[in-house]
Amino acid sequence: MSIRLGLARRGDMSAIAAMSRELIERGLPWTWTECQIARCIFDPDSVVLVARDGRLLIGFAAAEFWDDHARINLLAVRPAYQRQGVGRDLLGWIKSSAQIAGALFIHLEVRASNSNARDFYRKQCFIETGFRMGYYAGQEDAVCLACYLKATLDNPEPVHARHGVDSRFTPFLEH
Ligand SMILES: CC(C)(COP(=O)(O)OP(=O)(O)OC[C@H]1O[C@@H](n2cnc3c(N)ncnc32)[C@H](O)[C@@H]1OP(=O)(O)O)[C@@H](O)C(=O)NCCC(=O)NCCS
Repeated sequence: MSIRLGLARRGDMSAIAAMSRELIERGLPWTWTECQIARCIFDPDSVVLVARDGRLLIGFAAAEFWDDHARINLLAVRPAYQRQGVGRDLLGWIKSSAQIAGALFIHLEVRASNSNARDFYRKQCFIETGFRMGYYAGQEDAVCLACYLKATLDNPEPVHARHGVDSRFTPFLEH
């Protein structure tokens, strides 16, 4: 297996949108359409990463960066490639970028029923910080998660201090 991580390109939009629908928004109205993915790819305050096995797009992550925090909007790995560290490495890249950008924390919401993702994020040092009833089109509740990157007066012991991209995966830079 030769998996590489890098920035998403224009040609990745339809695969990312289709995988978002199938793996993240199944059963809900489709919000992460090609148009939305394009907005993130070209937004200077957002990053969309992809993982590829050869030419096959096997995973992606999308995040936006604000003054003091980052927000993860999307993260998914093709089922045949799950539990091989791809999600962890995509998230590691985002955490590194957020920390370098000076973010104090990263946050996101996941579907309350998504126990796999909740386990995954807990393993990556995220903590569950809240609950939003009916957040997903009134059909499903959300669990809010956060990972603190830096000590603050309110939060003297950041939950997460160390992370990184697995050296098995070669980063590439194409845009
Ligand atoms: C959540 C998701 C991105 C994880 O990606 P992944 O590449 O399979 O995760 P990793 O292999 O990096 O997992 C790292 C660790 O997280 C935990 N973990 C990951 N998936 C898990 C699962 N299904 N159940 C329990 N723990 C899990 C494990 O501790 C795992 O380490 P291990 O395999 O050595 O035990 C993937 O399951 C996915 O794409 N799910 C569908 C989309 C989704 O729910 N996205 C999240 C909401 S945006």
